[in-house]
Amino acid sequence: MLNVIPVTVPGYAQPLVEACTAWLVTTFFSIPVSFFRIFIEAPIDVWRSLSSSDPDVVLITGANSGIGASLAETYAKPDVTLGLLARDERLELIAEKCRDKGANVITISCDIANKEDLAGALIEFDESNPIDLLIANAGQAGVTDDGSAWEDSWQGIMDVNLKGTINTVMTVFKLMEERPHIGGQIAITSSVAAWHAPPQLCYYSATKAALTSLGRDLRYIGRNYNIKVNVIAPGLIGTRMTLGERKPYPFSSWFTASPKNLANIIRWNLFEDNFVITWPYHQFLVDLAISSLPPRVLDSVQWLIGGAWSVVSPAEDKPLT
Ligand SMILES: NC(=O)c1ccc[n+]([C@@H]2O[C@H](COP(=O)([O-])OP(=O)(O)OC[C@H]3O[C@@H](n4cnc5c(N)ncnc54)[C@H](OP(=O)(O)O)[C@@H]3O)[C@@H](O)[C@H]2O)c1
Repeated sequence: MLNVIPVTVPGYAQPLVEACTAWLVTTFFSIPVSFFRIFIEAPIDVWRSLSSSDPDVVLITGANSGIGASLAETYAKPDVTLGLLARDERLELIAEKCRDKGANVITISCDIANKEDLAGALIEFDESNPIDLLIANAGQAGVTDDGSAWEDSWQGIMDVNLKGTINTVMTVFKLMEERPHIGGQIAITSSVAAWHAPPQLCYYSATKAALTSLGRDLRYIGRNYNIKVNVIAPGLIGTRMTLGERKPYPFSSWFTASPKNLANIIRWNLFEDNFVITWPYHQFLVDLAISSLPPRVLDSVQWLIGGAWSVVSPAEDKPLT
């Protein structure tokens, strides 16, 4: 054991040390590497966009609404088989729209929180239609202004957003792993909340931060099996989640962006195999900037943001959409 004298930088000075460290890393590492990457990546991105074509078999979870439904319509075209998974009957409406565009559509009614049902449904679909692209998009939002909501709402969000998404991703990852000569692509829908969100979204942000971390590491592991892994991190998008009756956010449609535009951006970025696909980009930049603050500064900022949220949003608990 190293006999280190237990001396550390005093707490009040740590933000200054951390800010200087961040400045040094930004100036002498992040900016030079980023410039270098522009020259390397620009031609590769152009080549990938021009040489890529849509996958033959696409499976989308949470496909009956919002972002998932827009993705389904974006990928719907002749010669494409779409697997559309969700729980409620609105799925048939989206499926019909996609069939009208010429796609072969298979609907899967399944609760992703039910591990056995989910694995059975994914394996059965993959047996007859080996999945080229999985978009693990199904998710729920949740918000609390009140500590008592802790017991009520966290289980559901963890079961769906975290366990359900990991079960979806890993079931398909293992299927793709068995055919490394073909490989595949897996996109995990996270959120800009993985970088930063108001404290009232604590459970939701925790699940999305975990999914982003999973995506980063699975992307590395997947390379051994020819599996590309991407993380989708939308900002505020106008869907049932943000604008529906039980919306957890105190924003009007003015603040939200179109799921259709997001779906097109996702499709192009998946061609280019970008690690994090985010839009609207300015929202990501704000959350990225806040997340890189020294912890003690972030603590004060979070206190202000939490207070502001409590003023603009009603205090009642709106656990799940
Ligand atoms: N909208 C935004 O601003 C925003 C921002 C960042 C990230 N996201 C993420 O984007 C994804 C899609 O959200 P959205 O905005 O499109 O919301 P949405 O319109 O409410 O759609 C959510 C989808 O998830 C499905 N789903 C929820 N729980 C499920 C379960 N247990 N099993 C199977 N399917 C389930 C829903 O289908 P059923 O109702 O049939 O279950 C629905 O199709 C989510 O992961 C969300 O966290 C959204």
